[in-house]
Amino acid sequence: MLFDFSDFKSAFISERPHLVPQVNPGIFRALKNLPFLDSLESLLGHWEGSIQVHLPDLRDEASSLDTDAERALSFYAQGMGLLFNDAHVLSPMLGVWLQDLRKAIGVSALTYGRNLIYATPHGQGTAAHFDQNINFVLQLKGIKRWKIATNHHLLNPLTRHTMGQPVDPEMSTYLETPMPTQMPGDAESFELRPGSLLYVPRGSWHSTEAEGDALALNFTFTAPTWIDLLTAALRGRLITSPEWRETADLSEDKFDALLGGLIQDVPAWRAKDILAVTEAFHDQ
Ligand SMILES: [Fe+2]
Repeated sequence: MLFDFSDFKSAFISERPHLVPQVNPGIFRALKNLPFLDSLESLLGHWEGSIQVHLPDLRDEASSLDTDAERALSFYAQGMGLLFNDAHVLSPMLGVWLQDLRKAIGVSALTYGRNLIYATPHGQGTAAHFDQNINFVLQLKGIKRWKIATNHHLLNPLTRHTMGQPVDPEMSTYLETPMPTQMPGDAESFELRPGSLLYVPRGSWHSTEAEGDALALNFTFTAPTWIDLLTAALRGRLITSPEWRETADLSEDKFDALLGGLIQDVPAWRAKDILAVTEAFHDQ
């Protein structure tokens, strides 16, 4: 087992960051023994896909370019961080841990779980931002200092946002308070060393800085909201109807008739029936 899941379940429920200074050494060794996690050079040697380079203007995913393993090292040598997406495809063991962790925190089987690897040069890191994802960060190499603050500006964001950047159009429809321009004063500090594991709650403000060249493996989950589960169920229900499948010709009468039928149907809906469908079909 990668770590004691029960600690993370309570941290997940309370939406508080949680640091395990050192995970089980045997498990950490097993990870480090994966040839692509041994060093940045090994990772580049195994990597066939594209690699995201974080440009120095923002030090954030919001300002990046894509490159390949051959060119990535020269960007890194110039002080730019690298992001390797979907790293679990390189190891079935990582895929199993993603499933175990997803089940342990109790989110839907429709969750998109994946591993990301961040290579961060000494003195670099990410600008303050929040993500819509649930994140677990395992430090493999170097020291990474994290600052994390509860997001009092926006509860349950559906997309990420970098401080000082424009708010995306959808987010602006549910944002009630202006975004801050600096990390909130109540931010907590966490120091990750090789073998440390940090839980970063969805939506929390965070920024990072590396001491020494740093490599970190993230277990990242984009979990469905209630909106997603309901719309998945709604679609599943409606596609059985030829009338709902009709191309919309913008007739208000027809649409009202369809909505009238749906209104009759909805009072009988129960959470357990919907969850039986969303969870059973996709869980393995
Ligand atoms: Fe982040």
